[in-house]
Amino acid sequence: MIKILITGSNGQVGAELIRIIKSSIDAEILCTDITSKNKEVGDLQFEYLDVKSKELTEKIFEKFKPDQVYHLASILSASGEKDPYLAYSVNLTGTMNILNACVKYNVSKVFIPSTIGVYGPEAPKENAPIRHSSIPTTMYGITKAAAEMLCQYYYEKFNLDVRSLRYPGLISYRVPPMAGTTDYAVDMIRHAARNSSYQCYLEKDTPLPMMYMQDAMESTIKFMHTDPSKLTVRTAYNVMSYTFTPDELYQAILEFKPNFKVDYQPDFRQKIAESWPHSLDITKSKEDWGFSIRFDLRKTVEDMIENLQ
Ligand SMILES: NC(=O)c1ccc[n+]([C@@H]2O[C@H](COP(=O)([O-])OP(=O)(O)OC[C@H]3O[C@@H](n4cnc5c(N)ncnc54)[C@H](O)[C@@H]3O)[C@@H](O)[C@H]2O)c1
Repeated sequence: MIKILITGSNGQVGAELIRIIKSSIDAEILCTDITSKNKEVGDLQFEYLDVKSKELTEKIFEKFKPDQVYHLASILSASGEKDPYLAYSVNLTGTMNILNACVKYNVSKVFIPSTIGVYGPEAPKENAPIRHSSIPTTMYGITKAAAEMLCQYYYEKFNLDVRSLRYPGLISYRVPPMAGTTDYAVDMIRHAARNSSYQCYLEKDTPLPMMYMQDAMESTIKFMHTDPSKLTVRTAYNVMSYTFTPDELYQAILEFKPNFKVDYQPDFRQKIAESWPHSLDITKSKEDWGFSIRFDLRKTVEDMIENLQ
């Protein structure tokens, strides 16, 4: 049985990753976070781990001796703009601490998710390529772009099998997201499911790439099972399912909730959203490890509302 360590396990992605690992891999799992364990952790082992601390990180690795690590601890785009220093420490110092510990304790495989936040405003808006020279305008984007480079560095320098996917906005119902720019999509569907109206913090015509969490998690597990010789990208692969604007999501919700109402009051997140691409080039993900999805927008909305109710 392999041993899997998850950092930031209490977050939006962690809640779903725990489930899919439990159901698809014969593994002993250690969940870690800086907040006390949430209900998704259930009866799995849980330890406090602040990834900013090199000492604590190494202590946990020394004790648990993981074979694989899923490093999810992060400060996302909206929170990162409120506290850029914290975003820098968690996303970069924390990631370095994890990568160092992986090398020191002979971890065989590491997953470190990235984000569309690595793109800046001058990147192509449609089919944004994996390699680009745009400069991100948020601290989140800056730290995640550097983290992608660290992934490639540790792969080349230490032969560490570190892998990354650039997720778009992720839509899920178990743990509400609270720190990102694409969170409006989840919030809007949650309000619709509860039959309350919603005030959206983005303009109605702002397109962003998105994906249903189930597809994101199934893709992640498939990607992690891919023979390393097939992987030609060691920064991060692009993945996404569909592009929609807040208004297009609203229209999709109306099919299931015809009385639902939305109004628009853009805030600081509008500028962040405008700096990101509308869609990503996913060709390499299809070619190298067979990326595919099951949920289109209609199916996503239907499944979300069903589960939230
Ligand atoms: N959710 C999305 O839409 C999305 C999109 C693109 C990329 N991602 C990436 O996926 C990963 C997980 O994101 P998420 O949505 O679960 O975020 P989240 O904010 O929901 O969860 C992050 C978790 O990290 C924990 N954390 C914060 N500081 C920590 C520290 N110092 N030490 C240990 N844990 C700490 C938090 O307590 C939280 O439980 C991140 O790398 C993020 O960049 C997420």
